[in-house]
Amino acid sequence: MKKYNIRTEQPRDFKIVENLTREAFWNVYRPGCVEHFVLHHYRNDPSFIPELSLVMEVDGQIIGHVMYAWSKIDADDGRKIRMMTFGPISIHPNYKRQGYGKALLDYSMELARKMSAGCLLIVGNIGFYGKSGFVPAYVKGIRYADDPNSDAPYFLCKELDEGFLDGVMGSYKDPEGYFVTERMPEEFEKYEANFPPKEKLVLPGQL
Ligand SMILES: CC(C)(COP(=O)(O)OP(=O)(O)OC[C@H]1O[C@@H](n2cnc3c(N)ncnc32)[C@H](O)[C@@H]1OP(=O)(O)O)[C@@H](O)C(=O)NCCC(=O)NCCS
Repeated sequence: MKKYNIRTEQPRDFKIVENLTREAFWNVYRPGCVEHFVLHHYRNDPSFIPELSLVMEVDGQIIGHVMYAWSKIDADDGRKIRMMTFGPISIHPNYKRQGYGKALLDYSMELARKMSAGCLLIVGNIGFYGKSGFVPAYVKGIRYADDPNSDAPYFLCKELDEGFLDGVMGSYKDPEGYFVTERMPEEFEKYEANFPPKEKLVLPGQL
């Protein structure tokens, strides 16, 4: 792993970061990807946290990015418990599986903790997130609203404030911001046309 620098994303980085997100997610979970459009829209969402939109630089080039948003748990006792979610998180394909993603995630989680996020909830791969202390959220009493009856193994939680979820049972829904592509398919196609052409492929391992 080379020396890296992590800093807050600036407006001059937006296009570069969206292209990086597209490169990182392309053909990973589906033919093509939509995560760059999600990020593009999320920057205007009130729950977006600009201080936690972070870029990672190596040799002066942006090779990684992560964004965070405020969200909430709907507790069974009626409380709305404020916490954070994050993603997309992206490492450029040339830099994957060398430790940069974990370094960016761990650094960003420490900043989130300092901003009083008691816990994080996300949908993700335990193979990666488990290394940073995530556990399936059902272990902590939190259900995934879209899959409430199963012990969803891909719905993950990390307490940043130890014991934050003690005594909490509840459910969690991904914020609306993650579904912008389904709401605006034509805008997505127009936006996507601004990027260099890339071939969409059906590959093993996609969802
Ligand atoms: C997922 C991603 C951010 C991880 O970053 P990375 O730099 O490749 O990961 P790291 O090298 O820091 O990996 C840290 C650990 O997680 C493991 N890991 C990383 N990606 C993994 C994967 N897809 N499946 C299983 N384990 C994985 C690594 O083996 C490593 O463990 P080790 O240190 O014991 O070897 C990056 O690969 C990426 O951008 N992927 C495409 C976009 C994506 O899937 N984002 C996440 C959506 S939930």
